Amino acid sequence: MSAPAEPLGEYIGAQCRRVDEALSRFLPGPPACPPPLSEAMRYSLFAGGKRFRPVLVLAAAEEVAATPSLQEPPGQAATREDAHRLALPAACAIEMIHTYSLIHDDLPAMDDDTLRRGRPTLHMAHGEGTAILAGDGLLTEAFALLSREPACGEPVLLRRRMQTLSEIARAAGALGMVGGQAIDLAAAGAATPGGDGAAFDLERLREMHAMKTGALIRASAIAGAIMAGGTSAAIAAIADYASALGLAFQIVDDILDVEGATEDLGKTAGKDAAAGKPTYPAIVGLERSRHLAAEAHAESGRALARVGIDGGRLHEIAEWVVGRRN
Ligand code: IPE
Ligand code: IPE
Ligand code: MG
Ligand code: MG
Ligand code: MG
Repeated sequence: MSAPAEPLGEYIGAQCRRVDEALSRFLPGPPACPPPLSEAMRYSLFAGGKRFRPVLVLAAAEEVAATPSLQEPPGQAATREDAHRLALPAACAIEMIHTYSLIHDDLPAMDDDTLRRGRPTLHMAHGEGTAILAGDGLLTEAFALLSREPACGEPVLLRRRMQTLSEIARAAGALGMVGGQAIDLAAAGAATPGGDGAAFDLERLREMHAMKTGALIRASAIAGAIMAGGTSAAIAAIADYASALGLAFQIVDDILDVEGATEDLGKTAGKDAAAGKPTYPAIVGLERSRHLAAEAHAESGRALARVGIDGGRLHEIAEWVVGRRN
């Protein structure tokens, strides 16, 4: 892929606008959807998240679409517009699933947080019952969207759509995000004096992070690559890139919980230590955490190089993720 034309910040801004417009269109609203539920889903969805996962979906699709050697069958370069049309539903579905995961993660029965994306958490603003239902609604609407868009009767596209849906379901479910959250929930208190932090060696921690955060990030990149018609080698390399990036992402999230400021993060800093969560800084310290995040970042670049992706947006996005302050 040729050198990116616009600075990354502008590129991300344009992708966010594309995603926000599509989210607004895809999400059911009144009168068919009860207004309090619609308001609650929109409150969290349009609260100003980074949109990292949908940006990743679109960037993976663009990369594949622009590079004939990454496509099956080879030699069919598609336009950016084609890539967006094919991948936007998956990008939106993943952002809905991610937002649901945050709403439920913040509930009193889980992390018990009061601030998210710079505003009161949904259960603080609209009550616990509505927050639970808004999460349920976003999750279910995500799969409804994946099952119907992009609308097309062509067998090749239907196959891609089904494969994408299946990857996202696996990543969001009991073997992915929900499973990782269950491990996290059971582990609260482990990293306190007298807790069983010793049960959380680096391998266990990496596995928990791969499930609770990595799986959906991996599925984002895979979804873009599949929808744009990637070869199995391209999909595998992009999946490995995103697995490594997903790990780096959650290590940075853990570090920011220690070092970041609540105003920058839009969520309360210092919560992990207060809850005795086994995180990278808690288990291996800040310096080694930084080193491991850098290693995972380097690993993500090597995975892309395997299929000849040596520069471009996917590399830039990885740099953005590890260097972020929120
Ligand atoms: C926060 O994700 C939850 C984790 C998986 C660490 P993000 O940092 O992507 O949150 P938003 O979407 O920008 O609010
Ligand atoms: C949450 O991890 C991962 C999810 C699946 C939502 P955290 O609990 O560390 O996320 P934050 O720090 O609250 O955003
Ligand atoms: Mg949590
Ligand atoms: Mg949390
Ligand atoms: Mg966190």
